[in-house]
Amino acid sequence: MMRFDVLTLFPEVINAVLKESIIGRAQEKGIIEINAVNIRDFSKNKHKKADDYPYGGGGGMIMTAQPIYDAYLSIVKDLDYKPKVIYLSPQGRVLTQEVVKELSGEKHLVLLCGHYEGIDERIIEEIVDEEVSIGDYVLTGGELPAMVLIDSVSRLIPGVLSTEESYSNESHYNGLLEYPQYTRPVEFNGRKVPDILLSGHHANITRWRRKEAIKRTYLKRPDLFEKFEPNEDDKELIEE
Ligand code: ADE
Repeated sequence: MMRFDVLTLFPEVINAVLKESIIGRAQEKGIIEINAVNIRDFSKNKHKKADDYPYGGGGGMIMTAQPIYDAYLSIVKDLDYKPKVIYLSPQGRVLTQEVVKELSGEKHLVLLCGHYEGIDERIIEEIVDEEVSIGDYVLTGGELPAMVLIDSVSRLIPGVLSTEESYSNESHYNGLLEYPQYTRPVEFNGRKVPDILLSGHHANITRWRRKEAIKRTYLKRPDLFEKFEPNEDDKELIEE
């Protein structure tokens, strides 16, 4: 069982998305638990304000420390361990499949989502263990990044995906992109499924898929192909 708590001003967004599909089913099965905590509920301000003007001037609003801190305390007060606290931010370590794998070893993550122009620096100093970015672009808030992190980490938790196969073969798992997949019908708008996939010859199919995976990685992601370490069979496929 892995637990995620999301500290956010928009808990309904988190709940609406993560109740669906594979992640929703994993929660129903009790393999993962996702809890969206509304930071605003912890504001001691009479209007439940959770942001304020920046000291020193400049545009935009800054999320205040108090409601975030009290929301955090409401989570840790019942625990006999300290969960890892991650602040989603473009300043963080970039989330790759390697980082996802590492995080899937944690039992409890608290994900802090910023909004507006940012959050009071002292809350980062006080509670945050690590900052994580989902890529080199800027979003309006940390909710989408938090959901990206939860989705990518959860699917590595045993029992979340149905079979070992569903995550052993795919893009980025072994440094290669996934081979092309087809389902019925055999012909669509004049485009046929490759004959080999209809042949029933499993050894040939495996070989063809590996070759296609290598080919696509070379063509679509030369940066990944550079890092790829082919085995002896792969070298043969590359020669062909
Ligand atoms: N918040 C805003 N932009 C972000 C990004 N790229 N990654 C994580 N959190 C963010």
